[in-house]
Amino acid sequence: MQPFESLGLRHDGRTLWVLDQAQLPDAEVWLDGSAPATMVALIQRLAVRGAPLLGVAAAACLATFAERGASAPDYASACAALRAARPTAVNLMWAMDRMKDATDPVAEAQAIFEEDVRLCEGMARHGAALIQDGEGLLTHCNTGGLATAGIGTALGVIRRAHEQGKRIHVYADETRPLLQGGRLTAWELRKLGIPSTLVTDSMAALLLRDGKVQRVLVGSDRVAANGDFANKVGTYGLAVQARFHGIPFHPVAPVSTVDLACPDGAAIPIELRDPGEVRGYGAWRWAPEGMPAWNPAFDVTPVELVTSLVLDRGVLTREALRSGALAKGCK
Ligand code: MRU
Repeated sequence: MQPFESLGLRHDGRTLWVLDQAQLPDAEVWLDGSAPATMVALIQRLAVRGAPLLGVAAAACLATFAERGASAPDYASACAALRAARPTAVNLMWAMDRMKDATDPVAEAQAIFEEDVRLCEGMARHGAALIQDGEGLLTHCNTGGLATAGIGTALGVIRRAHEQGKRIHVYADETRPLLQGGRLTAWELRKLGIPSTLVTDSMAALLLRDGKVQRVLVGSDRVAANGDFANKVGTYGLAVQARFHGIPFHPVAPVSTVDLACPDGAAIPIELRDPGEVRGYGAWRWAPEGMPAWNPAFDVTPVELVTSLVLDRGVLTREALRSGALAKGCK
């Protein structure tokens, strides 16, 4: 492959390297992700994560595997294993379906990478236009450069508004249980010098009540044809709170996240993760040993709670989504 580089992914022409997001912000460790079995494990333990990045990284891994002389059956089974590594983010399936039939896997993976960078720019352009000078913005999980090949989805929009000189203040939800907001979004916001404050998820409603937040921007792992969408667990609660307080609520997603085969949110598969992630973190456990726990990694927000969906190609209002704009060709 031609060498490429993003915040969390690098190819030096021979080897694919991934920044281990599970170790951030304490250590910046780059791991060899060239072998498909390794990449599956990296994806499952969230060393590589974020809907768009899952597709880009899996595609680059397969291309590297092909370049190293993988046989057709080995390539096909690696493609299937990567496709099944996590169930909710449709970007992974979207990328693997492209790679499965690609006549030139290296060119296809390169195109997927470059396309993702462009899609981020489109979302940033359309989304930043919504943000007004002086706004407080609330976001959830990590949707920035770590989660994509480009500047991000929701966090890319926020970054662009900041670059445009708008005086914004970002409130980042820590995002239980794996703390993508507290570890990753906080790390990106600090690097970018964007004025920001970290809060626990349970503090968000107070910020909305107290007028500290004028807009909520989140990413998405899968948008159904009717505009319902899945995102990191906690997003649905934020949407309910935003509606109660009359605050605009925007999912931000590229076309690769739209799944017209899912008619509505009920058809989106939701990943259930190890209950141990709710009982503790790393080596630290706070709940009694054996305490039953429930750990859905994502929830579904109904289109009724969406003010507008920011896509790479433009912004669709709730009314447009409800009247079938996604299925009518905005994809
Ligand atoms: O479990 P993760 O960390 O992969 O979940 C990521 C999210 O939910 C993001 O909000 C999402 O991928 C959308 S934008 C990159």
